[in-house]
Amino acid sequence: MSILAKNLSKSFDGGKTYALQEVDLEIQQGEFIAIIGLSGAGKSTFLRAINATNAPGSGSLQVLGKEVTQLRGKQLVGLRKQIGFIFQQFNLVKSLTVMQNVLVGRLAYVPLWRSLLGFFAEKDVSIAKRALDSVGLEGRYHERARNLSGGQQQRVAIARALVQEPKIILADEPMASLDPKLSEVVIQMLERINREQNITVLVNIHVLSLAKKYAKRMIAFRKGRVVFDGTPEQLTEAKIDEIYHVDQAMMEKL
Ligand SMILES: Nc1ncnc2c1ncn2[C@@H]1O[C@H](COP(=O)(O)OP(=O)(O)OP(=O)(O)O)[C@@H](O)[C@H]1O
Ligand SMILES: [Mg+2]
Repeated sequence: MSILAKNLSKSFDGGKTYALQEVDLEIQQGEFIAIIGLSGAGKSTFLRAINATNAPGSGSLQVLGKEVTQLRGKQLVGLRKQIGFIFQQFNLVKSLTVMQNVLVGRLAYVPLWRSLLGFFAEKDVSIAKRALDSVGLEGRYHERARNLSGGQQQRVAIARALVQEPKIILADEPMASLDPKLSEVVIQMLERINREQNITVLVNIHVLSLAKKYAKRMIAFRKGRVVFDGTPEQLTEAKIDEIYHVDQAMMEKL
């Protein structure tokens, strides 16, 4: 089992906003899942719960066999090492080179004194090169990140996640800053990584057509609850209307 949520809830503002409500989900190692839903539905909160970026809520959440809500210190670092996170805004250090950005993903494997000196072993550098080659950035190792296009920067971020040698990759709207063509390249890469390396991939995505085209399983959140969990074929028009319907209460919040 990769991820197991039981009755998982998470609130903010002292219980006024429920970002996740009684979520029950079982995700096996190696699944490729698209997570959909309106803005504010709880998609990012769910991903952040998995790598324990948020303070824990209530219920149970097991990730790679560990109850995340109870992990502290070293155990938490150990879990996060196995989870790669890809962001909408890439989160690269723009003044550093492509290679240096990817090596950041190796930090958990390198003693602190060495990383402070910027000294990475040949092995780490060759792992980084292999990851960059696999996302089509061979020969770009020493360019500054800022000189790359958005699509290329996102591929650097994917390579950075890969060199962590993760069991799980969480991608929070990784294509939202990209134009449609590049969006498809990014999701294709995630799909290939999932297939070739058996890494569980969860991707939050706004573009329904891409989600349906690449994901084998789709999970929809609405007001913090799971309102759909099935294959793209099972996602009917009526279901889509229910997932994306904006009601009066939501209008008032806008
Ligand atoms: N740190 C926070 N403090 C207070 N409220 C928060 C916080 N993070 C999320 N929320 C609230 O929790 C709910 C779910 O937010 P979340 O960011 O998970 O939604 P989302 O589905 O990722 O939306 P989007 O598509 O806009 O990214 C929203 O009502 C949001 O305002
Ligand atoms: Mg979000």
